[in-house]
Amino acid sequence: MADGSWYDADIDRVIISEEQIREKTEELAKQVAADYADAEGGVLLVCVLKGAVMFMADFARALGRQGPYSEMEFMAVSSYGSGTTSSGVVRILKDLDRDITGRHVVIVEDIVDSGLTLSWLMKYLRSRQPESVEVVALFRKPDAIKVPVPTKYVGFDIPNEFVVGYGLDFAERYREVPYVGVLKPEVYARS
Ligand code: XMP
Ligand code: MG
Repeated sequence: MADGSWYDADIDRVIISEEQIREKTEELAKQVAADYADAEGGVLLVCVLKGAVMFMADFARALGRQGPYSEMEFMAVSSYGSGTTSSGVVRILKDLDRDITGRHVVIVEDIVDSGLTLSWLMKYLRSRQPESVEVVALFRKPDAIKVPVPTKYVGFDIPNEFVVGYGLDFAERYREVPYVGVLKPEVYARS
């Protein structure tokens, strides 16, 4: 852990370290590289903003070292819901910039919680006639799942707790934290 960064005092405990993330990202990229080695047109990576931005950057580079070639697309969605729980009703804030017909799409997600967002997104992307759609998610909370989502590539199963870091935020902060951890209770009380 970095010494003396502003956020260290706010973190109660580290769930997944920087090193673990690095190793797992390589592992996931290796699996995807093997599965898509002969994919015509390479892979179209679709990053779900903002949480997956760190993972997208690291995963794309790890995949690039092994091939096949990839291209990047970014989507932003927001799920309507009360408070911190999503309802499954999703609004597109930023759509794809191009046609995905006939492409091998891999959704790059930060975390699968209830699965509602991802389930909606897969249906949406499939309706646009891609050749295939799969998901690579760095984290999953198995105890929070409400709808089963076929997430082919999963990095870590984590406890059903709110986590921050490596792209994940609390009130737009802590995204730059290089590891994933749980905040101290007083951080929530403060806001
Ligand atoms: P669902 O419930 O639809 O939602 O699977 C997934 C999205 O919710 C966000 N999410 C989190 N964000 N810490 C965060 O900062 C968390 O522990 C957490 N759990 C879910 C995230 O954007 C994810 O894509
Ligand atoms: Mg997200």
